[in-house]
Amino acid sequence: MDIIRSPEQMQTRAADYHRQGRTIAFVPTMGSLHAGHAQLVKLARQHADVVVASIFVNPLQFGVNEDFSRYPRALDSDSELLLQHKADVLFAPAVADMYPHGTAQTSFVEVPELANELEGAHRPGHFRGVATVVAKLFHMTQPHTALFGEKDYQQLLVIRHMVRDLNFPIQVISVPTVRDADGVALSSRNAYLSAALRARAPLLYQTLRHVKEQVQSGVTDFAMLEKQASSDLQAGGFVPDYLTIRHAHTLAAPQSHTENLVILAAARLGETRLIDNLQIGPI
Ligand code: PAJ
Repeated sequence: MDIIRSPEQMQTRAADYHRQGRTIAFVPTMGSLHAGHAQLVKLARQHADVVVASIFVNPLQFGVNEDFSRYPRALDSDSELLLQHKADVLFAPAVADMYPHGTAQTSFVEVPELANELEGAHRPGHFRGVATVVAKLFHMTQPHTALFGEKDYQQLLVIRHMVRDLNFPIQVISVPTVRDADGVALSSRNAYLSAALRARAPLLYQTLRHVKEQVQSGVTDFAMLEKQASSDLQAGGFVPDYLTIRHAHTLAAPQSHTENLVILAAARLGETRLIDNLQIGPI
């Protein structure tokens, strides 16, 4: 596996692959890799001749009071995991090379509506930062296919919109959430949880499952379900930012319970903010 640091070198390498007629699958990450990321890389291997993974903790998508500086960084064990899963290239640029004129001065990509609610409302500017860095990474790695996890459900929709609106010739593949045995979605941020808080974490997924079961059993009062679920989370020590049932494709409020739906939640457990979601197919 080659480690490439410079955006220009990455672009040159991608152009070489294109000239050789080799297809590229791309997995963007912020590192501190776990089995969820590994699953993306494994699937990428099935989709293209060359697998490029990136590790870049992107300052543009963190708010001023968020965890950019303490976000876990583990380049050695990350390279090991990528090697094991047969990635060909690890692209790990420095902040100064990604934003040579500073993050305040850079051009950016804004995805309307979808990016301004839920995560976007609680983390203003977050999806602008995500869309901008992913657009830059796409230009640098020139992939045919890019893989994103359903764990970050709203992010996945934002990226799909950007790819469609800006005509990126890229197939976006979504990958189901990888969970621990107790149901907790794997996340680099789980490392922040003390043992006592980690023991409480399964309640988030349990609550989503409970809402899903009720919708599937015919309950149509979504406002009541949302309220009940939020208070269940509070009773278990979470401070919810939102727990909401939405249309799975648009994230609009659902018109009927027979549509494709998704239950999305974000809640703080101590200092750690966890997000999760669960899809409900047509009933
Ligand atoms: P990061 O949180 O490192 O996640 C990288 C990719 O792994 C995302 O597509 C995410 O949805 C996926 N992922 C994370 N946990 C997962 C799990 N438990 N199961 C399946 N997939 C999982 O998301 C980002 O980084 C950044 O916003 C990025 C897209 C790299 C832009 O900076």
